[in-house]
Amino acid sequence: MTNGAQPRIQWLGRWGFILAATGSAVGLGNIWKFPYITGEYGGGAFVLVYLLCIMAVGVPVMMTEIAFGRRGRGSPVDAIRRVVNESGGSRGWSLLGWMAMLCGFMVLSFYVVVAGWSFSYLWKTLVGGLSGSSVDDMAAIFAANNASPLNLGLWSTLVTVVTMLIVGKGVQAGIEKSVSWMMPGMVLMLAVLIVYGVFSGGFGDAMRFLFSFNVGSLSSEGMLAALGQAFFTLSLASGAILTYGSYLPQSASIGRTALSVALADTVVALMAGMAIFPVIFANGMNPSSGPGLIFMSLPLAFQAMPFGTLFGFLFFLMLSMAALTSSVSMIEATVSWLTDNKGMSRTKASWLAGSVLWLVSTLAMLSFNIGGDWTLAGKHFFDWLDYLTSRWMMPLGGLGMVLLAGFVLNEQSFRDELGLSRFWYMVWLFMVRYVSPLGIGLVFVDALGLVSLQIHSHWPWLLLGLIAITLLGEWVRPRLRLLP
Ligand code: PFF
Repeated sequence: MTNGAQPRIQWLGRWGFILAATGSAVGLGNIWKFPYITGEYGGGAFVLVYLLCIMAVGVPVMMTEIAFGRRGRGSPVDAIRRVVNESGGSRGWSLLGWMAMLCGFMVLSFYVVVAGWSFSYLWKTLVGGLSGSSVDDMAAIFAANNASPLNLGLWSTLVTVVTMLIVGKGVQAGIEKSVSWMMPGMVLMLAVLIVYGVFSGGFGDAMRFLFSFNVGSLSSEGMLAALGQAFFTLSLASGAILTYGSYLPQSASIGRTALSVALADTVVALMAGMAIFPVIFANGMNPSSGPGLIFMSLPLAFQAMPFGTLFGFLFFLMLSMAALTSSVSMIEATVSWLTDNKGMSRTKASWLAGSVLWLVSTLAMLSFNIGGDWTLAGKHFFDWLDYLTSRWMMPLGGLGMVLLAGFVLNEQSFRDELGLSRFWYMVWLFMVRYVSPLGIGLVFVDALGLVSLQIHSHWPWLLLGLIAITLLGEWVRPRLRLLP
């Protein structure tokens, strides 16, 4: 390799990367966040735009990130710098790597709080703390769990410590092993809940809610949320996938790998929706109840079904594990940067990163109790971390990466790395040069109120615009010298 990348440790098994990347992708984003934002933005229309975003933006960005990681063999900052250097581009592009690392860190700062909820519910299933007969009872349990900073802080601290212990040990063996039984377990638990949902009386409403694709009803805010969720759920532009890609053996196919991860992730999210909404409708609960949605609805279902305590325990166990395999991936970029550049041992780097994380996440945790009044423009610190990362930093980081890969790098560099057939390479190139940037760009200008995008009625114009811009772009591109 000519870009100065050093040989690096690699995943143990053939499935190592797929397992680890799936572990990163499948997490609270699928089971906690997807249902509650689908509820907030009104169901089917949101789901459709979300699926479009996964295919048109998520998969191409994921392939690009893996290729950056594997070609640059380093943390996001180092890998991007090396790959750009190889094409003679500016060092300034490594800013994208810094933003990704910061983004992963910020996501983790609120993620450990939600993972803490999952841990505490796991504990409650054991000690019988989840009994109640109505949605209101469940809401009261959720509120009481949040009210004490000491209680909530204990759980998020526990998540932080466990995450840093796993990262400190080196992720390969730990993650590869745990994901291989956790994923099937999670799918099984969701299947049990779906079967329960079928008999709960709310299944028809739930399916209509999730799959009646009436795109006209989606707001600009909803589209931005769908794009953000596609990035969040696939762990994109946060350093996680790129850093995991840096451990990927040269022989693995990046395209097939990215597709498998995206497919597994989407299946789990849709299953979560099909498991959760029947319970919500059967109990007359409002689907737009926000972040507490699964914690207030599922315990009701577990109480009503045979072997409910056992299933509840297994569910929260799986959820906690899914959260951990995601948490670990968010901090891996930072730890990898510290060990590569500051000569620290993995253990030391983990504890350093973990200490800063603990401080920031404690602030986020306080949003639910004593910091209840600390808001800026109506949002708590916890909400700001979520909003800034998934609505803005991830899409912008992804946009930067596809533009870099599509227009700035030497064509040969990613052509070698992706190892696709000519046809699929051209498809990828078309996606990263035009489809993904235009998709992200349109959602942004729509969110900023500059245009009002009505996909359902404007789609022929959008398609024509895409063709025109592609033709124009391909005419202008060879005449522009982007590289020195
Ligand atoms: N994809 C994870 C989830 O859906 O829960 C969240 C996530 C993991 C976001 C890793 C960002 C990241 F770097």
